[in-house]
Amino acid sequence: MIKRIAVLTSGGDSPGMNAAIRSIVRTALHYGIEVYGIKRGYHGLVNGDFEKMDSRSVADILQRGGTTLLTARSEEFMTDEGFNRALMMLESFKIDGLIVIGGDGSMKGAKKLTENGVAAIGIPGTIDNDLAYTDYTIGFDTAVNTALWAIGNLRDTSSAHGRVTIVQLMGRRCGDIALYAGIGSGGDIIVVPGEEYDEMDICRKVIEGRNKGKLHCLIIVAEGAPVTCEEIRDTIMTHTGIESRITVLGHVQRGGSPTSYDRIIASRMGSYAVKVLIEGRKGRAVGIRNEQMVDLDIIEALEMKREKRTELIELGEILAE
Ligand code: F6P
Repeated sequence: MIKRIAVLTSGGDSPGMNAAIRSIVRTALHYGIEVYGIKRGYHGLVNGDFEKMDSRSVADILQRGGTTLLTARSEEFMTDEGFNRALMMLESFKIDGLIVIGGDGSMKGAKKLTENGVAAIGIPGTIDNDLAYTDYTIGFDTAVNTALWAIGNLRDTSSAHGRVTIVQLMGRRCGDIALYAGIGSGGDIIVVPGEEYDEMDICRKVIEGRNKGKLHCLIIVAEGAPVTCEEIRDTIMTHTGIESRITVLGHVQRGGSPTSYDRIIASRMGSYAVKVLIEGRKGRAVGIRNEQMVDLDIIEALEMKREKRTELIELGEILAE
């Protein structure tokens, strides 16, 4: 019987985390369960930074980026001493279930807690979309839309000058933001991790585009790509004499008001996670597959490998011809 749960956000924030927190708090209260918010992720868990939440604590946050519970990447939690303190805190606050919203590192923390008897549930909150067990992570759609807005502006100036524009997008080791934003913005070349990089092929595409009458060349590069933006710029200059400009979009992709898709999946995942706890399941990773809510064993979920995005990669290439 679940009487009291806690929620924390951890690792890099993502737009929609607040919508998930709101949904967790209001669903839990609806079912007569008390909720504590833990501040600054695992750092707050280790240090007892717990705060009781009510319906008003989550008012007016649905549309806000960032996380009202704040976040951190806690090194203390990784130590035996810190981890044991975290377990003690959960016990002394009489927490029956913990919901962790975050990326793969945060999920790993939830997995370790599960292995130590805590009823922990993970919700995927990261712009990177790098968790294979779920089709989408909270924040990814907003980050792609932010990238589309930025690339749209870059396209204007790039066309005006007839330049090559090289844009680096976030995603850690995952190329999804670059791939989706590349296709959505009509990028000419998309460079993602796991794909072979051929510098002569890039130069050929730049020249071919110019000869076809393209006013600009947009090259979208994922941060985990096998080549840097500077290397691409230098290669193009050496072999074609064409000037490039580099934009590293950076943390602007992490902020902003969540899109409708992120608000809705965050609200669904938050509510679903509470129901998973009520139904007595623990050590689960909540996700979305084919638009349906799912929960998988957190250990198995984290071991899953994402399939190569062959269809999308081909699509990007064909549409850039
Ligand atoms: O995981 C989200 C993310 O924004 C990645 O895309 C990026 O590599 C990383 O976090 C940046 O981390 P930090 O905010 O610590 O610089």
